[in-house]
Amino acid sequence: MGLAFSPGDDWPGLVGGAVGPLVLGPLAEAGAGLWARELVLSHVPVLRDEVVRVLAPSGARVILDCTVGSGGHAAALLDAAGPEAVLVGLDRDPEALERAGRQLAPYGHRVFLLRTNFARLGEALARLGVGRVDRVLFDLGVSSPQIDDPGRGFGYRGEGVLDMRMDPDETTTAYHLVNGLTEPELAQILRDYGEERWAGRIARAIVRAREREPIVTTTELAEIVKEAIPAPARRHGGHPARRTFQALRIAVNRELEALAQGLDQAFARLAPSGRLAVIAFHSLEDRIVKERFRLWEGACTCPPGLPACACGRVAEGRVLTRKPVRPSPAELAANPRARSAKLRAIERLAAPRCEDGSGARAADEPGAVLGPERGE
Ligand SMILES: C[S@@+](CC[C@H](N)C(=O)[O-])C[C@H]1O[C@@H](n2cnc3c(N)ncnc32)[C@H](O)[C@@H]1O
Repeated sequence: MGLAFSPGDDWPGLVGGAVGPLVLGPLAEAGAGLWARELVLSHVPVLRDEVVRVLAPSGARVILDCTVGSGGHAAALLDAAGPEAVLVGLDRDPEALERAGRQLAPYGHRVFLLRTNFARLGEALARLGVGRVDRVLFDLGVSSPQIDDPGRGFGYRGEGVLDMRMDPDETTTAYHLVNGLTEPELAQILRDYGEERWAGRIARAIVRAREREPIVTTTELAEIVKEAIPAPARRHGGHPARRTFQALRIAVNRELEALAQGLDQAFARLAPSGRLAVIAFHSLEDRIVKERFRLWEGACTCPPGLPACACGRVAEGRVLTRKPVRPSPAELAANPRARSAKLRAIERLAAPRCEDGSGARAADEPGAVLGPERGE
């Protein structure tokens, strides 16, 4: 499918679409048999109502969903935004875009889907002729259809080849890392990206096992990890291979680098009073989000009590979630995969302002739109 817009008019550069969501990128080659798998693979959007509440898209003109996945959040945001809004949906996984295309078909020319890594969202928006965006969502990590399809190699329960690429055109897979990295390199990845206490033991066990023959499947790897962890430690903290699989997935997809780049590019393009929300699923992601928010809040470094700010930090944003928003017990009962989700949101100030050195922070001011996290 070709491009169907041209820059211009008073619209922020975006002129119309085709009939149905416009899908850009090499979708034609998307996997055969997708429809059959779809019957059993679906994704429940996490914290959907809270995302709509904090992004408050009513009146927004351009919504950017950086991780459109199966389109669940996108549909909810479009419903809440009103008929003037258009949604740009990005995903690096062509199968996800295909699902999003079907889910968002009823919104017709209001939806523009683009296959790209959100680390390059600036380029993507430029390609669409979009200057500013009013609302942005990042719903990080992998979706249920990705985890539940053994062929993608993300899960430790079903048997599949160790792949874990969100973008099938990338060349490095989990197989390459597991069979190619040195023992110290493996241990470092498990420590840095999995916060795995038994990183050294697991790395040693992997190297010993692959000396016999390459480790090919997810279940082989899960078994090696399980055996490497002392028996008493296997009994708590979820599946023993969970952290190893998380670490490898993050490394294969270079997720943390992409997040830092994507956040910076999205905030730079956020319109005055525009809002950006992120759902993170582990502390490494959440830490990057918190650091960025603190930076954008202007986080004054002056000692308290100075009559005027001397550090010159400028606040560009106001954090809307004093504490991260967590799923309700009802959501957790219906969707246990939401258990580690944390939602944070920030609003771009209409005009940047200098912090006054009093130690007061925007997030402490009255008017934070969502209160403390639940369930803690
Ligand atoms: C948790 S799912 C999103 C689900 C979606 N919000 C929904 O309602 O269906 C995350 C999606 O983001 C995509 N993704 C993760 N990292 C990405 C990146 N750096 N660039 C583009 N897409 C990414 C994944 O392929 C996956 O489809």
